[in-house]
Amino acid sequence: MSNKLLELKNISKTFGQTKALSNVTFDLERGEVHCLVGENGAGKSTLIKTLAGLVKADGGTITMEGKNVVIASPNDAQALGISVVHQELNLCNTLTVAENIFLGSESVKGVFLDKKAQNERAKDILADIDPTISPSTIVETLSTGKKQIIEIARAVSSGKNVIIFDEPTSSLSESETEKLYEIVETLKKKNIGIIYISHRLDEIYRLGDRVTVLRDGTAVGTLEKGDLDRDKIVAMMVGRSLVNYYIRDNKPGEEIVFEASNVTGALPRNASFYLKKGEILGFSGLVGAGRTELFKAIFGTDERVAGTFKLDGKEIELKTPAQCVKAGITYVPEDRKVEGLFLDDTILFNTTIGVLNQVINKFHVDRRKENEITEKYAKKMKLKASSYDQNVRALSGGNQQKVLLGRWLSVPGTKVLILDEPTRGVDVGAKADIYKVLDDLTAQGYSIIIISSELQEIVGMCDRVYVMRDGRIEGCLDKNEVSQVSIMKYALGEANG
Ligand SMILES: Nc1ncnc2c1ncn2[C@@H]1O[C@H](COP(=O)(O)OP(=O)(O)OP(=O)(O)O)[C@@H](O)[C@H]1O
Ligand SMILES: [Mg+2]
Repeated sequence: MSNKLLELKNISKTFGQTKALSNVTFDLERGEVHCLVGENGAGKSTLIKTLAGLVKADGGTITMEGKNVVIASPNDAQALGISVVHQELNLCNTLTVAENIFLGSESVKGVFLDKKAQNERAKDILADIDPTISPSTIVETLSTGKKQIIEIARAVSSGKNVIIFDEPTSSLSESETEKLYEIVETLKKKNIGIIYISHRLDEIYRLGDRVTVLRDGTAVGTLEKGDLDRDKIVAMMVGRSLVNYYIRDNKPGEEIVFEASNVTGALPRNASFYLKKGEILGFSGLVGAGRTELFKAIFGTDERVAGTFKLDGKEIELKTPAQCVKAGITYVPEDRKVEGLFLDDTILFNTTIGVLNQVINKFHVDRRKENEITEKYAKKMKLKASSYDQNVRALSGGNQQKVLLGRWLSVPGTKVLILDEPTRGVDVGAKADIYKVLDDLTAQGYSIIIISSELQEIVGMCDRVYVMRDGRIEGCLDKNEVSQVSIMKYALGEANG
């Protein structure tokens, strides 16, 4: 009999035409971090959903400390002490932070909910994770990064045996990420088994005791800590070796295409910057520095009290998103589930919604045209889907991101493309594909702004970088000055004395 904390044997799952998992075997010991990696759509989330009671496997067995277990519902998972930080946020926006942390396991005093006790307990849990979040805040008002922290707090408070993290850092800042690493180390010491899914190889090296690679629903191998090698993992993941990761072959022009002066809104203060034609311009800073808010204030989705703009040297009025799009300025938001995608509509619909005038032909949809446009961008993005009629909800996280990018690229007349966390949740192979697409776009006359928390991406792809802090632009770095260190100096406010 095995004394492994968890053992999954021959787990299989088919969704319609898609074989998401075939005969996957995976195990977990107490006090270890077992990383699960693989390309978008490899089956990682599906595998952990079988442990969460959200997906019923077609075949296979699960044992916990040698005993067979059946996990048919989230309640079963909870009873076994298994908790999951899911890839997509699953919070109730209208409830408070504390209510979300204890959803399903509320502190009860008699028959009444003891709000005070609940807030106190939430406060204790948050003290270790992020004391700046108040238990009584309504979740809706928090940023994506803070919402992710609530998810983590919830899982940590209820996972007694196994805690599973499905890409937990994709919306966290550097410092929040560091905090999470500490939490993981603490959980290890408490002898909890941890399954950690990530596309970021740096964190896999840092945290992983073992790494299992999934490819097309099959476990292709497990590497031990001493054996972890970037090229080996990548080759196992994508079935080929990737030499050039960041592709930036084209050079920007000298001409200024877009200029923003003194933009001030709820968070941004007096922010001024310019963008050159064919440039890839980076916006870096810690989460909460105001990068997203700056572009929302420009785009007209957030309040703005001041700010003037020039496009191709001419003053231009930008008050609403529609005005921006008409002028050729497009903003692709970070939180694709809330702001970007229609999850219960097809890939075809989601890709072509921005160009309805091209696909609607005398009141009916021109299917051929719709297919043609979708195909063009799906190919460019190497989208992995069984058919374009598939609903976006059924796609893996990274593939959803590709649909969203494809939509904005298909809008004609775009000059300035603003991408907020463009490769969030995208696997290494697909990231390289997207970088190549962005580089190509600059050669076709697009100018691109990337807002990203991933410093390597900023350093690898951007021609110039603005760093924000507390709503202000703290500094601007030229290509030859850009490094993770120089960016962090500005982000932490240490560069200007
Ligand atoms: N509910 C569903 N209905 C139909 N197909 C699904 C469903 N859930 C997942 N799939 C398909 O199963 C495959 C595996 O998806 P999964 O979400 O497990 O991938 P992943 O490895 O987590 O990818 P990512 O890194 O992008 O999150 C994909 O092809 C996906 O489209
Ligand atoms: Mg996933």
